[in-house]
Amino acid sequence: MNLQFNTNEKGNLEIGGVDALELAQEYGTPLYVLDEMRIRDNYQRVEQAFSSEYSDFKIFYAAKANTNLAVMRILEQEGSGIDAVSPGEIYTALLAGFEPERILFTGNNVTSEELQFALDSGVRINLDSVSMLERLAGLDNAEGTKISFRVNPMVGAGHHDHCITGGELSKFGVMEQEAVDVYKKAKSLGFEPVGIHTHIGSGILDPEPFKLAVKVLMDIAGRVHQEAGVEFEFIDFGGGLGIPYTPEEPVLNIKQFASEIVALYKDKLSEYGIDSPTMCIEPGRYIVGDAGYLLTRVNTVKQSYRKFIGVDAGFNTLLRPTMYDSYHHILVVDKPTAQPSQNVDVAGNICESGDLFARNRPLPNIIEGDVLSIMNAGAYSFSMSSQYNSRPLPAEVIVQEGKVDVIRERETYADLLSKQNLPLRFFK
Ligand code: LLP
Repeated sequence: MNLQFNTNEKGNLEIGGVDALELAQEYGTPLYVLDEMRIRDNYQRVEQAFSSEYSDFKIFYAAKANTNLAVMRILEQEGSGIDAVSPGEIYTALLAGFEPERILFTGNNVTSEELQFALDSGVRINLDSVSMLERLAGLDNAEGTKISFRVNPMVGAGHHDHCITGGELSKFGVMEQEAVDVYKKAKSLGFEPVGIHTHIGSGILDPEPFKLAVKVLMDIAGRVHQEAGVEFEFIDFGGGLGIPYTPEEPVLNIKQFASEIVALYKDKLSEYGIDSPTMCIEPGRYIVGDAGYLLTRVNTVKQSYRKFIGVDAGFNTLLRPTMYDSYHHILVVDKPTAQPSQNVDVAGNICESGDLFARNRPLPNIIEGDVLSIMNAGAYSFSMSSQYNSRPLPAEVIVQEGKVDVIRERETYADLLSKQNLPLRFFK
């Protein structure tokens, strides 16, 4: 079983030294719980695995996985950079204390106004298209900016089609065959191209496609170096490092992964005579995925054509099962190690049939009032949540050595309407 969790002397699920049942009682459900130590451990594991093989190595945490300010502060303290994909993520990262040079903006289909925001913020800009390059050139104070390009290496991988970002169907990046020309063009427009980037997809547990992408990107970087005369300050292989969601899925052997990637990287640097740039990766899920739990209370047990366990969370709080058919392990908080005794569907409270956390899942006996923990809810959970069905967003807490802090208040009904205006004529 590759899913880790702790229990306390009562036999209850324990998170960061706190009883999960008490968290649910005290802070209500649904509730996102983050384990600070786990985030730090995950970060340090990747950092050490790579930097022990290549010292000029830098992580750019993919903020989209979880943008809570507490999470961002933890990563700032750990020394991470930030992969930001929108002005909102740049804004959040700056507020969390990241200096602009530690933020790489990789937008796609961004407006010129958004580009100007990035430029004015002083963050590094990673370009996705020739259009973006040309529009950037027309903006105020663009001259001399250090830029990089995201390249599509025609290798893609990921846990679902929606999460594969390399290959012919992908909207991301410039084509391999235009790479040399876009760098030449960037230079002629007065930019200083200093980096190259790719991101082939998300939820990758098999190192092979990632390794292939590293090789291809390095070959492209080699050509850009030799034919366009670009001296690279950084080469960025993106994120995508997977975590086990099912008990059977393997854990990525990060040390071996790092040593294989770095070996390839070093070989290619010497093959093309590239002078040791900073090597970057952009993990999101790997850093925060297994540090998050979504606690939800069972309010309905219904024997219909199937047996449904109805809970007070829904796909508005965790979209992944509905959107990608993703598996999230589910534990009963007061008996997390109990053996399954039935197969049930765990259904949310949203008025759509696709609102299921699990179909036909072997689980122990469950009664109304039980609290369930939906595991691996640290990445792409809160950050993909919505108020659909007019459900206020849940609270988020962070736990550390038995201490609990609320890092986002539970929303109220008033929050649902806080940005609406009702024109006067509707009062008549
Ligand atoms: N860098 C770039 C440019 C990205 O687009 C992404 C993710 C990452 C890094 C981080 O990928 P990670 O290490 O977290 O796999 N909502 C989906 C995942 C979408 C990821 C999009 N881009 C999910 O819940 O599985």
